Amino acid sequence: MDSTALAVLTSGGDAPGMNAALRSVVRMAAYRSFDVVGFRRGFTGLLQEDAVALLPRGVANVLQRGGTILKTDRCAEFLEPAGRERARRVLEARGISALIIIGGDGSFRGAHALGQIWPGRIIGVPATIDNDIWGTDETIGFDTALNTALEAIDRIRDTASSHDRLFLVEVMGRSSGFIALDVATAGGAEEALVPESISSIDDCCQHLMTARASGKAMSILIIAEGHEEGDAFEVARKIEQRTGLESRVTVLGHIQRGGRPTARDRILATKLGAFAVEAIVEGKNGVMVGEVKGELVTTPLESTWSKKKPLDPFLKKLLPILAK
Ligand code: F6P
Repeated sequence: MDSTALAVLTSGGDAPGMNAALRSVVRMAAYRSFDVVGFRRGFTGLLQEDAVALLPRGVANVLQRGGTILKTDRCAEFLEPAGRERARRVLEARGISALIIIGGDGSFRGAHALGQIWPGRIIGVPATIDNDIWGTDETIGFDTALNTALEAIDRIRDTASSHDRLFLVEVMGRSSGFIALDVATAGGAEEALVPESISSIDDCCQHLMTARASGKAMSILIIAEGHEEGDAFEVARKIEQRTGLESRVTVLGHIQRGGRPTARDRILATKLGAFAVEAIVEGKNGVMVGEVKGELVTTPLESTWSKKKPLDPFLKKLLPILAK
């Protein structure tokens, strides 16, 4: 490569572990003798040249912090060809030869489009609580979000069981049910309504009534946001209409996006951040780094959103069998 300047940014919804990934990128890049610049607020900062030099000591004491010290954004301007053209000019003017994007599938789409007009190397690092990215078993942030949701559900179980109540808990995951299915399994919920599968409200009502008939007086249903049957309040209304069961609804929302990353997320972020730099050194371009079955791998950026990572079908089948 002609230049040794590498840029990094965090983009899209924040995810616990983004800072750990950033720290790893910056320190591995220094080890490999790159100068590193960070753009603040994702692609927005790239377009506005809102840049900061990142030195190894500059990322001290961030490993354990949630959010992203670089800040993040969803940049509408970057979706347009003119926005990407501007980004290309900024990168060229600054002599940057490689760009690492820590984010989710929307950010990778933008990165891929930039790669069509900019000759530098582009590497994606998967970070989103949704875990909906092909090419890595888990995304950075998923494990923390899952454990945050689980802690809430354990608390809800206490009150649900004291009052013999039905609770509906809505978790995040735009068009994806990874958090919903896993937290339902770990939290002993009755059922998870996820966008990927066709489990209907009627099936749910049937499970609930069968459980009640066998003496189970409290139940928890998990609903992924964006389910076609509606949000948790809407689903609660439909269930009451069909079964007469009154319920309470809790929407966990952005609580799931914050907080200290778990050890597992910190370790994944540390591996993937460093591996992204190694991918650049090896001459890779237009790929995302990931971990599949314990191996560090790279996947073409287009595959990360065009291929659909499936939910575990065994877990889905188990839920109603085990919730007795
Ligand atoms: O992409 C992660 C995610 O948390 C989704 O689960 C959720 O639908 C979305 O971001 C919410 O985004 P915003 O930051 O716009 O509220």
